[in-house]
Parts: sequence; structure tokens; C-alpha cells
Amino acid sequence: MNLAIIGLQWGDEGKGKIVDLLAKDYNYIVRYQGGNNAGHTVDVDGFEFVFHLLPSGVLHPKKIGVISEGVVINPKELLKEIDLLETKGITPNLYVSLGCHLIMPYHIFIDSAYEESQKIGTTMRGIGPTYIDRVGRCGIRMADLLNEKVFAQKIKLNLLQKEPILKGRFDSDEIIIEYLSLFERVKPYLADTRSILNKAIANSEPILFEGAQGTLLDIGFGTYPYVTSSHTTVGGISIGTGISANKISKIMGVMKAYATRVGEGPFPTELKEQEGEYLRMKGREYGATTGRPRRCGWLDLVAIRYAIEVNGINSLVITKLDVLSDLPKIKVCTEYRINGKPCEFQPWISDWSEVEPIIIEFPGWCRDISNIKDYSELPEEAKSYLSAIEKMLGVKIGLVSVGPRRDQTLNK
Ligand code: IMP
Repeated sequence: MNLAIIGLQWGDEGKGKIVDLLAKDYNYIVRYQGGNNAGHTVDVDGFEFVFHLLPSGVLHPKKIGVISEGVVINPKELLKEIDLLETKGITPNLYVSLGCHLIMPYHIFIDSAYEESQKIGTTMRGIGPTYIDRVGRCGIRMADLLNEKVFAQKIKLNLLQKEPILKGRFDSDEIIIEYLSLFERVKPYLADTRSILNKAIANSEPILFEGAQGTLLDIGFGTYPYVTSSHTTVGGISIGTGISANKISKIMGVMKAYATRVGEGPFPTELKEQEGEYLRMKGREYGATTGRPRRCGWLDLVAIRYAIEVNGINSLVITKLDVLSDLPKIKVCTEYRINGKPCEFQPWISDWSEVEPIIIEFPGWCRDISNIKDYSELPEEAKSYLSAIEKMLGVKIGLVSVGPRRDQTLNK
């Protein structure tokens, strides 16, 4: 059985913990889109690991991590992450696709240059400009590094094409030397991951697909233009790995018990004042990649219903329920209205300030739940809150997370 784990909000739903938790039942853990803009935090035995590029399941011995074609890679950051794990005594089993596009130093520069005129609030990791080059057919892939001449030609062409914006800031020889030397260390991991994964499927070896970012940041179905540059929805798996969509057996959606967003863009249930600050402090809502404070707000079921439909979610995971524990009232958005008329979540809404979120309230439980080990021990108010969400979304909740550790997870 192959499982997809997809974020249903604007990323940071706690997918890393869930992937780490479930990884033991899968042979391969696959990152298929995005790059080191992601920040997947895993807490094991008191150590906190933040994965940006490596699949979160690589902490389990004998599991094979795969970074497939749809991911863009900064080789320096990849090696940094591998080195960090090795200092903790972990040598990841890893395959990296020869088809992955490379993030070059000029992509990082262009990312910040674009932010000056169009503020998206990107992670400044060069993700968008690398995907632009991929679509523009001038991108450079891992496989290009196998042939020094081809690689050098491509670098020169890119610097020439981008000269109006780069204005002589980058020297082709410097980049060529640096990347060829990084390549020597990346080479042992390179493989035809499409073929490896399809063979694994043919041998009935289970695969876990680890989504990065969230549905509402999808390039096609998110809150465009305030999105990332990849397909964060389930469709991203097929186009990012070369595995047919009909090979994905289960699609699990991860949502936080409230909502957060980093960077610019619409956020109908955002809390500006004290309540937002409360969620930020209690939930430690600071970007795992950039350290930026996350914007916080109430759970938005209109957006989640949309995300469930786009991805075909058949099981839900709710994370960070413990963060709501001290609140006497817990609020949830159940409907959007524009000029008094109900409306659905639509990625092309041009003026989100017109969207009025209709909020309902639930009584809080006002007690610590982070040490509870069985779902039945949750306070009645928490169970009613979860049952109501399940009913309003029409999908069953399978797991509830009440803290960052593996043992702080309840089966429902
Ligand atoms: P980019 O992916 O760096 O181009 O950033 C585009 C948007 O996606 C910005 O609003 C980022 O804050 C957001 N973003 C990118 N990666 C993540 C993530 O892993 N979690 C949350 N937001 C993200």
C-alpha cells in the first residue's frame, strides 16, 4: 500500500512528525516537490531534527529516502543536511534523482531581487527562479553535471540570458568549479529514482510520499500569486516522480487544529491581536526554515473542504490540538460570504478583503492534554470539537497529535 501525506493548509501542518511516525511501515520515503524551502520538524528522544530536503523518514534505520525529479536541489544544503545527520551517527540511505533541477547561486539572488518589486514573502532559497528556469527550458539538472562541457555551456548560457538582472555579479568559472566539486560528494546518491520506485511498486514494497508545503500554496490551486512554485497537491506526486496516479492507495490530509501562514497573502481567519499572539507563543509558530513569526488564525473549514476535494483525502490527521488547551472558547470558520452571499474557496478570488468568514464557537477544555495516551481520555469538549470537525468535513479523523513527540499521538 502506498500512502501520500499532504498538507491541507499553508504548510507547517506538522507533516514531518506524521511521516516520521508512519515511516516504520514503509520501505521508501519520497520527497517529490519543493526544495529546501520546507522545514519538517521531527522530535525523537529529545533531539529535534529539522529536515529541509531529506525525507523525514530517514531517521529510521533501513528505510530508503528518495528525492525525486520534482524536487529542486541546492547541493550545498543537501550535503549540509547529510553531514548534520552523520554527526548524530545517522547515515541516511538516500537516492537523489538525476533529473532534479539545481538551485544555483543566481537563483537565490533573483529570488530576492523579485521580492523587491513583488512581495510574496518567499523563503529566499531560490525555489521560484529555479522552477521558472525548469519551465523556461534553460534549467540545469543533476545529470548535466556528469558532463563538464555541457554543464559549463549551460552555466554560461544562463548567465548571459540573465545578465540584465545579474549585472555581472556572478562569475561562470567560480560557479562551475564550486558545483563540480560539490557534485563529487552528491554523485554516490544519484540514481534513476523513477525506475527504482516503479520496481519497488512491482515488488509490492510500500512507499510513503511526503508532501512539502500545503495545498493552499499549490502553484495551480493555491492562493495565487501568494503560493510556492510547485504542485503541493496530490497531483504533484505523479508529475514529480514518474509514478502513475493509480499507484497511490491512500491519501492522508494533515491539518493543524488552527491555521497559520508565513509570508504574504490572503488569510480570512487571521487573528491580529492577542489571540493570534497566544497561538504563536503556545504553538511555537516560527518558521522552521526562516525563523519568521507565522501569522496565526482560526481553523478555516471552507479552505480545508476545498483541500480535501482537490486531493481526494480519505483520512485526516489533526495536529497541535494541545495548543488550544488553555482557551475558554475555540472558534472555527464554517462558511465564507461575499456581500452577504455564501461562496466557496476559489483560488482566483481577486479581493480577499471582501471575504467574510462566518465563525462558530466551541467550548474549550481548559486542561493539559499533552500527556494523554488514549483518545478516550480526551476531555469531552475536545472530543465534541473533533467530532464536529469530522462531521462538517465528511472525512474521518484517524490520528490526533497532542505534542511534538512520537508518543504524543492518539489513534481515533
Ligand atoms: P517559496 O517557496 O520560497 O518561493 O515561497 C513562496 C511562499 O510559500 C511564501 O509565502 C513562503 O513563506 C511559503 N512557503 C514555502 N515553503 C513553505 C513551508 O515549508 N511552510 C510554509 N510556508 C512555506
